Amino acid sequence: MPPIVVTAALPYSNDRLHLGHLRSTYLPSDVYVRFLRRIGEDVVYICATDEHGTPIALRAEKEGKTPKEIADRYHPLIKEDLIRMGCSFDIFSRTTEKIHYETTQYFFKKLMENGYIYEQEMEQLKCPKCNKFLPDRYVEGICPFCGFEGARGDACDSCGRYLRPIELKEPKCAICGIKPELVVTKHWFFKLTAFQDKIRDWLENNNSMPKNVSNYALNWIKEGLRDWCITRDLNWGVPVEGAEGKVIYVWFDAPIGYISSTKILFLNRGDPEGWKRYWNGRIIHFIGKDIIYHHAIFWPAMLIGMREFELPYSIVAGEYLTLEGKKMSKSRGWYIGIDEYLKLFDPDPMRYYLISVAPLDRDADFSLEDFIRKYNDELADILGNFIHRTLIFIEKYFNSKIPNAKLSKEDEALLLKIKDVEARATEYIKAFKFREALVEIISLAHEGNRYLNLSAPWAKIKENSERAATTLYVCAQIVKALGSMLSPFLPFTAEKIWNMLNINSCVHEQPWSFEPIPSGHEIGKPYPLFKKIKLEDLKRIRAALIPGRDVGEKISIEDFKKLKILTAKIVKAVKIENSNNLISMEIDLGEYGLKSCVAGIGNQYSPEELIGRNVIVLANIEPATIFGIKSEVMILAAEGGGKISIITPDKDVPAGSIVK
Ligand code: 2FM
Ligand code: ZN
Repeated sequence: MPPIVVTAALPYSNDRLHLGHLRSTYLPSDVYVRFLRRIGEDVVYICATDEHGTPIALRAEKEGKTPKEIADRYHPLIKEDLIRMGCSFDIFSRTTEKIHYETTQYFFKKLMENGYIYEQEMEQLKCPKCNKFLPDRYVEGICPFCGFEGARGDACDSCGRYLRPIELKEPKCAICGIKPELVVTKHWFFKLTAFQDKIRDWLENNNSMPKNVSNYALNWIKEGLRDWCITRDLNWGVPVEGAEGKVIYVWFDAPIGYISSTKILFLNRGDPEGWKRYWNGRIIHFIGKDIIYHHAIFWPAMLIGMREFELPYSIVAGEYLTLEGKKMSKSRGWYIGIDEYLKLFDPDPMRYYLISVAPLDRDADFSLEDFIRKYNDELADILGNFIHRTLIFIEKYFNSKIPNAKLSKEDEALLLKIKDVEARATEYIKAFKFREALVEIISLAHEGNRYLNLSAPWAKIKENSERAATTLYVCAQIVKALGSMLSPFLPFTAEKIWNMLNINSCVHEQPWSFEPIPSGHEIGKPYPLFKKIKLEDLKRIRAALIPGRDVGEKISIEDFKKLKILTAKIVKAVKIENSNNLISMEIDLGEYGLKSCVAGIGNQYSPEELIGRNVIVLANIEPATIFGIKSEVMILAAEGGGKISIITPDKDVPAGSIVK
């Protein structure tokens, strides 16, 4: 096979990663690369942080930092989390490297020379208050296609469409919230339309492209492609040479990051031209399904336009992972971060779960109970227990030496199964069916357990030690096969198995093809691989793993003391004519006197229900005039589950009592 470059999508350096990223992109790519290395392929595995664009610039703006400071903070954290999960990148670089700037500018120039980039005036949004152009995520509004209200200027998260900021309905500046104005500026466009037919042919005739990717991209092509604006008015990004204030759009430079990172890898290896072999070899991208468009349309068009690269051999797109049925969301605190997970568990159980939970091209759900169940039943009871029992019996009855064997037909049949499983797992991995491969491999541990239970060497050791020896010989072969074949999936566990078998070489460097462990070989000290998780710990684990929604900015006790919260009694309440749900009230605050209050609770309470009620009010809020009526205090109420519930003190305290 030609040299292979495997890339994993470059994460934005504006936040840490969570389980969804692992599942869609980083674990599948790592399994694949570890497998390729085992079968002796010449492969490099490339990743980096994607450090440009509005995701980083916006975060910086909100924190009062520079984009580079944000990238400097998250790059090492993201890298460390992935490496701790076992991702075996050959390089994990950054798109703020000098070589990346040069390579991106080279692409820009070359595509211009080749006639695929042109200049054009266009209308753009500008915020009059911030005095800033508003590219991409600097604008929020309503999606013109599906009506989703939280669409961003670059894309709609709801229908997945790629958008231009000026297409959003009711646009708002993401920084200050006001309505932007339209101004005319000059930008550079990539002639995407020129590649429509070529990309269609390539997608239709590429058997190594998974169907979820080609079908998705072909659907977009059917709708017709549009030329693509590849520059922005922003002061963060790869500069457009000779154009003050303009940078190259992050989605133009990000995939070039795959190439520039490969260049850096080979420079570090003292072979500056080495990267070219891979980029003229077999290119395989692993991505999440939300960025298929960029990888299966924009990027191949750029590569064709350059006239010096191969097109991707395959693009593997992992579908979404939900958390207990709901979409993961950092802002709602509904996610499990890699870092939080690794504080409690080893990497391999999560690798196991995320790979085996569902095929990569289907959505999957993570549930904590299911994780614990799979961990206990499959890893501890089936895999761990089989290996432990086998090795303990060899230690105990055969002085830690792999016994001699006198194989029966059944024994031989089981040994042949190892090769069968290996062949099937190989085919599955080559077809990017990682779940299916892992299920095959684990089935070998099932078989092993069943065989061990039926043969019961512990019972036969006295009257038929030859049979017991043979059983343990066969089981030892299965243990070795498991260690070997699990190495791409559970690299840390595979190393432990190798250590317990006392094999004097690295499991990740073994040829993939199974070789038996000889009789007489002395094994190491066995120990249990997986300690069971107790279900009673579920609550504690959940609290440690799922952060919950961020409560936002913290205030000091001094700030809190500024609030005058008092008990009070509603003495009068009337609906405000012509309003939707406003009620005007008179409220007795005891020694603080009678105050007026207007509240939007008329949909949930009638005036009659309110009169006479004890309530809690914020008494020192600035008065406001609502519907021409003065409102001097604010009634405290809880809102949730579609209801409003007025807070009432649970004992009868006099009106005007302080709440603290
Ligand atoms: O969607 C994202 O998180 C992007 N940072 C992915 C970039 S992948 C590649 F093109 F670099
Ligand atoms: Zn939409």
